[in-house]
Formats: sequence, C-alpha cells, structure tokens
Amino acid sequence: MTELHTITVQLHPSYDIHVGPGIIHHIRLHHRRIVVLADERLRDQHLPTVLAALRQQQSAEIHSVVLPAGESCKNLAVFSRTLSQLAQLGLSRDSAVVALGGGATSDLAGYVAASYLRGVAFYVLPTTVLAMVDASVGGKTGINLPEGKNLAGAFHQPRGVWADTELLTTLPASVFAEGMAEAFKHGLIEDTALINAILGQHWTAHSPGLVALVAQAICVKAKIVANDPHERHERAFLNYGHTLAHAVEAATHHTISHGDAVSYGLHYAAWLGKHLGMVDITAMTRAFIDQQRPQPLPELDFAELSGFMNRDKKADEAGLRFVLLEALAKPVLMRVDDATQAAAYADWWHDVKPTV
Ligand SMILES: NC(=O)c1ccc[n+]([C@@H]2O[C@H](COP(=O)([O-])OP(=O)(O)OC[C@H]3O[C@@H](n4cnc5c(N)ncnc54)[C@H](O)[C@@H]3O)[C@@H](O)[C@H]2O)c1
Ligand SMILES: [Zn+2]
Repeated sequence: MTELHTITVQLHPSYDIHVGPGIIHHIRLHHRRIVVLADERLRDQHLPTVLAALRQQQSAEIHSVVLPAGESCKNLAVFSRTLSQLAQLGLSRDSAVVALGGGATSDLAGYVAASYLRGVAFYVLPTTVLAMVDASVGGKTGINLPEGKNLAGAFHQPRGVWADTELLTTLPASVFAEGMAEAFKHGLIEDTALINAILGQHWTAHSPGLVALVAQAICVKAKIVANDPHERHERAFLNYGHTLAHAVEAATHHTISHGDAVSYGLHYAAWLGKHLGMVDITAMTRAFIDQQRPQPLPELDFAELSGFMNRDKKADEAGLRFVLLEALAKPVLMRVDDATQAAAYADWWHDVKPTV
C-alpha cells in the first residue's frame, strides 16, 4: 500500500500538507481557473504530469506559466511579468495559483498569489526536499531586491500542499542534500527521533523511509510556526546553525551553497554550546558533515566571518544572539561573548578545514 502522511498546519487559516509517492495524482482543487507557475527545469518532466493530473479531475480551465529556474525567478522583473500574465489570462478572485518547483518558485508564486487582486488561492507542489520540509510550511513568500535577499514579501498561507516524493528522483544530489541539512536541523531543535533517523544512512530520493522522514521534518516546522505565526519568538529557533551559515555564504560569495553552509553552521553552533558548558553535540554534527560531504571550505578568517555574523538579522544594538541547545531538542536564544565565539571558531575550523 502506498505510504501517505497528512500534516495539518494549525495556522489561520489552517491547511494540510500531504506527503507521499504519486500524491500529485490525488490533488483536488475547486476553482474555475488554475494557473500552474512552474520552474523551467520541470517543464519537460514533471509539469506535463501535473497538468494531466489536474485536467483529469477538474472541469476548470488550466494554464501554465514557466518561470526562470531556481533563484533567478525571485526578483521584481519576474514578479511583475507574472502578475501581468495572470491578468492576461483573465484570472479572477475565485482562481488559484499553484507553485511547482523548489523554494524559490514557491516564494515567488506565493508572493504573486498574495498580490494579485490582493490575494488569490495558493497551492504548493514542492519539488525539492528543502521546499517540502521548510519553504512550504509557514506562509512566508517573497522575492529578492538588488539590495538583498528576501527583502520584499508577504505572509500568504497556501490552502494545501502536495509533497510528492517521486518528484525528488530528478534532483541533483547536491540539491537533495541541501534539504537534508534543514531536516537535520529540525531534528536537533525539536525531535531526537528525527536525528537518529537521519544519521548513519546515506539518503537519496530512493531511500526506503524517505516519505516518513520528510513528513517528520515537516511536523517540526509545522509545530513551530503554529506556536509563533508572526516570527516573534520560537520561529527564530529555525535559524539554528544559520548565523555562521549566512556568514559563510557571504564570505564565499555564495560559492558554498546554503545547505552546505548550514551543515557547517550546525557544527559551529554545536561548538559554541560545548564552550558554554551546554549539551555537547559536536560528535553528532561532525558525523553529519562526514555523511553530507559538503563542498570543502576555502580558507576563512574569523574576523571576516565575525563581521558578517554581526550584520546578521538577529544582531541588535545589544549584540549578536545565537540559537543554542540547552539539551537536545531544547533550543534557546543567547548572547555569546566574542572570546567564546573565537574559541569555538578555532575548534570548528580544526574539524572542518580542508585536508590536503
Ligand atoms: N518561504 C520560506 O519559509 C522559505 C524557507 C526556506 C527557504 N526559502 C527559500 O527557498 C529557496 C531555496 O529553495 P530550494 O533549495 O528548493 O532551491 P530552488 O528552488 O532554487 O531549487 C534548487 C534547484 O533545483 C532545481 N529543481 C527543483 N526541483 C527539481 C526537481 N524535482 N528535479 C530537478 N531539479 C529541480 C531548480 O531548478 C534549482 O536549480 C531560497 O530562495 C530560500 O530563500 C523559503
Ligand atoms: Zn536554511
């Protein structure tokens, strides 16, 4: 029997995330006009299947618009062009926008759906692990501006998400791994069973157990966003490992991917915790790096990374705050003095520096 999971995200309005192989064939939407906004890499392989599945069940008029692949769709030019395309297709208030792609596609499509006629129904068919376990949960949508990432956007909850794990089989291994880093982070901050499930196995889109693992990781984020819909408190815990990760991305001019930077960042956060006498999970985060095999880091200087960390969005007048773990699955937000940051950096670098 096919394994299916449904997670209800308890927001206002609440919505269901369905996870399973072949789940796109179970989509039910009741709208007069539906426009699928799809990542162009999926044009030949997944988009035709999705359109056929939608057409089978609906009496609706179904259109598709192909968006530039990945992050290159998240800008004002594509945003404005896509809004115009919806207007030209005659979309009315009772129409729906469906995102088919990774987190970049659903961020853009969600913001388009939030803006068109001040908001039309939005659905997501995530096609990367990251989009399933992270971007599809919580209703954040948006685009980048020339001045920085995710600077314009809106909260617009999807009405439904169908995470079809069969769509992951075409993902490049490195993109698949990026999502596993976020799933591991979800385990560390909330769910020890998820940590144990992830560690010690090389995960691919074909791994038995992947459906349950994706569903488990979605549950973590769903729980956190339900407790903190407007990002005032708990939601910050989702940034575990991200302070150093963002600095690594900036210092390497994004030659290190977000997911790889998160793998390294989780290990740095673990070292910080150890230096502060909190739970020591450095062996676990080290094991994860060995398993993930992120791209090797170039030579990185603490002073430079520290500069980027202090510009991180969690730094305020009183200084930088890190998400740390009091115990496994017990995150806290804490200030850490510069000397501790530097000492943890030295130990972290010893572990992660490229071996020649
Ligand atoms: N809204 C949120 O809460 C939230 C949370 C986390 C991340 N994000 C955003 O998500 C984005 C990152 O998402 P992502 O990692 O999914 O990246 P992405 O959307 O850029 O996709 C990564 C790459 O994989 C390709 N791709 C996608 N699905 C594929 C498939 N099934 N087969 C083959 N190739 C495929 C894409 O074309 C792209 O090149 C960032 O823009 C980030 O800001 C949003
Ligand atoms: Zn992340």
